[in-house]
Amino acid sequence: MTVLGIETSCDETSAAVVRGRRILSNVVYSQVERHAKFAGVVPELASRMHMEHLPRVVEAALRKAFGRDAGLKDLGRRIDAVAYTQGPGLMGALLIGKVAAQSIAEAHGLPLVGVNHLEGHALAMGLVSDIRYPFISLIVSGGHTELVLVRAAGRYRVLGRTRDDAAGEVFDKVAKLLRLGYPGGPAVDRRACEGDPAAVDFPRPLLPGTWDFSFSGLKTAVLYYVRDAGYLDKGPVRPAIPAARRLPRKFVSDICASFQDAVVDTLVDKTCRAARHTRCRSVVVGGGVAANSRLREKFQEKAASQGLRVHFPPRDLCTDNAAMIAYTAGQRLRYGRPSRRTAVEPSMRIRSWRQ
Ligand code: KG4
Ligand code: ZN
Repeated sequence: MTVLGIETSCDETSAAVVRGRRILSNVVYSQVERHAKFAGVVPELASRMHMEHLPRVVEAALRKAFGRDAGLKDLGRRIDAVAYTQGPGLMGALLIGKVAAQSIAEAHGLPLVGVNHLEGHALAMGLVSDIRYPFISLIVSGGHTELVLVRAAGRYRVLGRTRDDAAGEVFDKVAKLLRLGYPGGPAVDRRACEGDPAAVDFPRPLLPGTWDFSFSGLKTAVLYYVRDAGYLDKGPVRPAIPAARRLPRKFVSDICASFQDAVVDTLVDKTCRAARHTRCRSVVVGGGVAANSRLREKFQEKAASQGLRVHFPPRDLCTDNAAMIAYTAGQRLRYGRPSRRTAVEPSMRIRSWRQ
């Protein structure tokens, strides 16, 4: 089964060709630099950039998979299906990917498969190793924080998710407050290496009795800490430190290290408890935040002490990419669970991924 996948849910324009679990190509054009000056993704800009770059990205993926002369010609003989990210994501961005996939599928008489973006993240590890079911999937990105029990391809139970900010989003917002640039996660991660994680006792939002997460209170705790130290005006809360005011390097590094540990402890603790509760032996961590060095370190430590195995897909399969979408579509077709819903679902939160 060879599938052409298209992913345009946020700020990565991606196309990939996957045969079974072999990635023939996985081309990703990241828009991150264009959004950086706005310190976050601008939906309208993302849609325009998908429209501008998707044709080139699809062609590059086909050429890489089938040779220099390969294009859309003869596609019906080379691939078995076209897959696209159905949601969740930015409405306009999703529509660009859907229309492109639909046009290619119709022009070549191929089946069209809409894939849930989070299902793609959850199964991405299957592209690199034979992961045994059931496992717990933790998806932590700029838009999502989801804890999912994966019983098999196509059989999922969403155990918990964030009630407010996603894990990556809270890294980005704290980095914005401290003027560390965008995306904030890698910047906080780097600065945290210089800081003391015990310097500030930020809260660990564990929400006992539920598998949900909540990070907005932690974000506010960081803001108040900076304000109480005299770096923000009292009164109405300002979203960022005035540019003229310089923050001591050690002060920022200590905040980064302490804040990062609070997020990481919360994620690791709940995920390992969910694994024990559901009797899963394996945990798979995906999404952009999976690149965090402290998260990896603490997961490995805690998992080893509890007899769990923690897997991190390679970086390019952790972040948004079309290979995971093509692979998931292939799994769905293989196990006879093709998506029945073809409507694009904008940033909708889906209770169950079964469709
Ligand atoms: O999965 P992703 O590339 O895109 C989506 O949001 O879908 O994730 C991007 C998020 C951003 O919020 C970014 O700050 C965060 O992942 N991130 C990190 C690290 N690298 C990226 N967060 C913490 N530590 C990192 N090293
Ligand atoms: Zn994602």
